[in-house]
Formats: sequence, structure tokens, C-alpha cells
Amino acid sequence: MIIANWKMNGSKELIKNWIDVVSRDIEINETKECIFCPPTCYLDFTGTLVRKTSKGIKLGSQQFDSELLAPLTGGINSQMLVDIGCEFVIIGHSEQRIHVDESNQILSNKLKTAIEMNIKPIFCIGESLHQKKANQTKDILIDQLDALTSSFVDKCIVAYEPVWAIGTGENAEISYIEEIHSFIKEELRNKKNSTNGISVVYGGSVNLDNYKEIYSSNMVDGLLIGGASLDSDTFTKIYNMS
Ligand code: 13P
Repeated sequence: MIIANWKMNGSKELIKNWIDVVSRDIEINETKECIFCPPTCYLDFTGTLVRKTSKGIKLGSQQFDSELLAPLTGGINSQMLVDIGCEFVIIGHSEQRIHVDESNQILSNKLKTAIEMNIKPIFCIGESLHQKKANQTKDILIDQLDALTSSFVDKCIVAYEPVWAIGTGENAEISYIEEIHSFIKEELRNKKNSTNGISVVYGGSVNLDNYKEIYSSNMVDGLLIGGASLDSDTFTKIYNMS
């Protein structure tokens, strides 16, 4: 699967142009999902446009709020995402973890809620540079994976996004990605006792120069792309050629 995470970028005009180009040029492969996560305020608009193209581009939200926090001014709950046709939701992105300070309890509740509402979570985990340098990567990942209970493992996509690789232009080396993905898959297998339905995607400075090497690894089940997904041609090329 190839996922575009637009973060806090875009406008109605940019989204429309992107969908026009992507839906014209993309060669959708049923076994490789194409998921577009625009800013929350454009989800409904985006959903209407992607459904019109009949290309099978799926709608994903960059976030929603846990019902544990209700009442919450400005909040968006899972029912609202279902209402506008969202099939995926990003949970635990490091940019949210840093700024919103979500606990494992909140994240676990979000995972449960999304799954109950039939929205597939894209659950992000990853270590900071400081943690990597201190050799804490695996401990951090184990702690973050604690939010994911065994019955959710095959209903989620896990995204490994090393924080130091996000938006820095410095992607992780393929050998490192393979080592960590293999570790994550092992942890997930231990929770679930089976490899069925386990997907681990990579995110962090994926671009036209590095996507091929990363995606071609059998340890990598997809790509979660930030900056490089904003350009419709770049995103389409990555999708079509990966
Ligand atoms: P970049 O591709 O811009 O590094 O962002 C990665 C990311 O955070 C996707 O969720």
C-alpha cells in the first residue's frame, strides 16, 4: 500500500488538482492500496472527489479524538469519519505524540474505537534520534506496541516512522529498516501467534530516489509518504513503479 499523508498542507484547489492528475495517471493495482490522507477539514471534500473518479483511491484521516476526552471542543470522533466515508485513520503519528502527548491508554482506546467502527488504523511507531543514539530503539518500540492488543494486530497497519527521518531528507538505510521491520513483525507475531494479516509500512523521507530500494524489500509492506506525496506526479510515479 502507498499512503499520502499531506499533514498541514493543501487547499481545496491543490487537492482538486492532485486528484485530477493522480486519478488520470495512476495504474491502480487491487493488491496495492492507494490511500490519501488530506487535512481533516478537507476530508469530506476529498471524499466526494475521489469517489467521483471511481479509481479506488481510499480516504484516510490524519487523526480523530478519543471519546475518552469528550466533551472536547474542536474534537472529531470516529462516527464522523465513518459518516464522510473514511476507511483509514492515522493513529499515534509522532507529530501528534509530541504535541498532543497521547498516552498509551488513549492510543489503545483509539485503536479499539477505530476497529469497532470499521476504520483501519495506520498505527505509527518510531524512535527519536536521542533514543536511537542511546540504543533504546527496540525498548521504545516495545513500549509503543503495548497500545496494540493481540486481537487488533491483524486489523491494523503498523507504520514504522523513525522520528529522525521524518521531514529531514535523511531516510533510514535499508539494512536498518529491514532489521527494525523484522523486529516489529516478530513482536507482532508474538502477540498474535501468526503472521497472517500483519502489515508494516515505512515512513520517513521517502522520495523518488529511495522508494524503490525501500519498497522492494520483502520486510516492507508499504510506504507512508509525507512531503513527497504533495506533488501529484511524484506520488503517481512512486505508486505506479513500486
Ligand atoms: P516525510 O515523508 O515528509 O518525511 O514525512 C513522513 C511522515 O511523517 C508520513 O507520515
